[in-house]
Amino acid sequence: MVSMSEKSNRSGQPNLRREVEILAATHEIYAPSPDVVSNANLPNYLELQQQALSDIITFWDDQAQTFIDWFEPYQQVLDNSNPPFYKWFAGGKVNIAYNALDRHARTWRKNKLALLWEGEPGDVRLYSYFGLWREVNKFANVLRSMGVKKGDTVTLYMGRVPELIIAMLATVKIGAIHSVVYAGFSEQALADRIEDAGSRVVVTCDGAWLRGKTVNLKDIADAAIHRSPVVQQMLVVKRTGQQVRMAPGRDFWWHELMNLPIASPYCEPEVMDAEDPLFILYTSGSTGKPKGVVHTCGGYQVFIATTLKYVFDLKEDDRWWCAADPAWITGHSYITYAPLILGATSFMYEGAADYPYPDRWWSLVEKYHVSVLYTTPTAIRRLMRFGEAWPNRHDLSTLRLLGTVGEPINTAAWRWYYQVIGGERCPIIDTWWQTETGGFMITPTPVVPLKPGSATIPFVGIEADVVREDGASCEPYEDGDLVIKRPWPGLARTIWNNPEQYLSEYWSQFQAQGWYFSGDSARRDDDGYFWIIGRTDDMIKVSGYPLGTAEIENSLLSHKFVAEAAVIGLPDAVKGQVIHAFCVLKTGLQGDNRLVDELKEHVRHEVGPIAVPAAVTFVTSLPRTRSGKIMHRLLKAQVLGQPVGDTSTLADQ
Ligand code: WTA
Repeated sequence: MVSMSEKSNRSGQPNLRREVEILAATHEIYAPSPDVVSNANLPNYLELQQQALSDIITFWDDQAQTFIDWFEPYQQVLDNSNPPFYKWFAGGKVNIAYNALDRHARTWRKNKLALLWEGEPGDVRLYSYFGLWREVNKFANVLRSMGVKKGDTVTLYMGRVPELIIAMLATVKIGAIHSVVYAGFSEQALADRIEDAGSRVVVTCDGAWLRGKTVNLKDIADAAIHRSPVVQQMLVVKRTGQQVRMAPGRDFWWHELMNLPIASPYCEPEVMDAEDPLFILYTSGSTGKPKGVVHTCGGYQVFIATTLKYVFDLKEDDRWWCAADPAWITGHSYITYAPLILGATSFMYEGAADYPYPDRWWSLVEKYHVSVLYTTPTAIRRLMRFGEAWPNRHDLSTLRLLGTVGEPINTAAWRWYYQVIGGERCPIIDTWWQTETGGFMITPTPVVPLKPGSATIPFVGIEADVVREDGASCEPYEDGDLVIKRPWPGLARTIWNNPEQYLSEYWSQFQAQGWYFSGDSARRDDDGYFWIIGRTDDMIKVSGYPLGTAEIENSLLSHKFVAEAAVIGLPDAVKGQVIHAFCVLKTGLQGDNRLVDELKEHVRHEVGPIAVPAAVTFVTSLPRTRSGKIMHRLLKAQVLGQPVGDTSTLADQ
């Protein structure tokens, strides 16, 4: 069996802690102020939420007409003839970049700010709707001149700069499919994603600013391309000005291309079918390979525009700050696309929340008069550690709503966010959703009474439940699988190149009932509020960022000394979870601290800094099932000193 040379020093069991919090908070209710209710975009949300399930078709039809302009009308709202391969707005013709920019550039909104951006060093850029539309057109024409056409994929590996938003919109404008890879990923992770998507064109930056230093994105992209030779062209944004090597004939500077006649300022949007792929976004899968979640052109935009409008109650004069990375689904849906579709003004910041000082974010809220801030529990916990004095130095009175996403928020962080940042004035919108759901699924709006740590109730038209293995609904306070019982327009349609995996990951667990399996466990309280417990599978969330155990394990296995590897997520007071790795070394080898450092460095290089294990333990064997699958649950229980539970499938060692 496992020999533990090192016990975790982290105290507390995640579920127990969550349990105590849930019990304490189910009766801590924050009613919305009458003011907020009377000004809400959807004051009758609670009634609508009750009624809409009786006719989701009419509800989504109305939203599709309200928020989206169609080049040609759809014939059917929902085609459910081949479940779970649902089609929404079948036959409709549309382009998301058109709805995000072109149509606004023809109205008074052309002069409105679409995007305010501040770089880590303090440089500022402002784009009006007209200005952003023009940049997108120019870059769309550049891509076309590179031979990119409808249905091709383009990989974007860039920092948090406006050019990333421009590149995303330009790609979809010409009907191509983007795959944005988080700039915190490294060589192998990037190479795998480029290869799976089959991108001939990659857009990157020379570097990215990170806490006053630079990350050499171009070098990493070069190394990845070396490993996946499908790439023929690389377009490079000059951001940090650091030295990079440009391969003649393959690499081109963004700013040079944008000054050529090929970058003409008008580009006709490609007419897309509602069910054509819009983008691929890789997330962690149960196998070693990351899975490319595919969203499509029609339903996705209807869903994200509707949810943003009602959940965050966006108004024409708001300044919306979604502080996520654009490379995350949160950024795709709620930085790049939905705010623009709604004609809103977004703020975006390039750097770290606490750089150069722990009040950087608060100074930005004050400086730009941000009215709605949306971030993660990890960010709140990290900033909370620096104390109240930092936010208290700033005028945060422009804030009217606050949001969180990515992990359950613990009550202490919730209260701090509510009291210190929101001045007890701003409802906390705790949104539960996933890469695969496209947009918010279980969430309050400003009119819903809140309980700290609960994502409250499903959005209008969403039928969610917590069920036992046999599909029966759980009793209040009983943990079960969180499932969605009916399709919704933002549902991911498939896994890129792998429809079988789509079926097995999401639709096989409750196949008889035809329900979507979220992979999360949850419970409901006696008011029917949902409390998310966490993942039931092998996904680890570090600082809210989803990582697959298999991808990290594979990177450890690619080290010449490692014979077997397993990684688990352990609770961490700030990051939510951190990674703990277990390695069996090849025969005759001894692990020491130097090798621990080397393995950490190896993971940093292969997968990225976010995936680096907090601890590496050398063991003589790993607990496996008889079929050879590593029992992560058992490893975790052992480290945490919890009961190991059912071990009947454990192979004899
Ligand atoms: C977790 C992020 C608790 C959950 C949009 C889910 C949450 C996974 C919440 C998806 C929340 C997301 N409360 N847990 N409000 N929001 N999660 O694909 O485990 O990066 O399955 O999408 O994050 O992560 P993903």
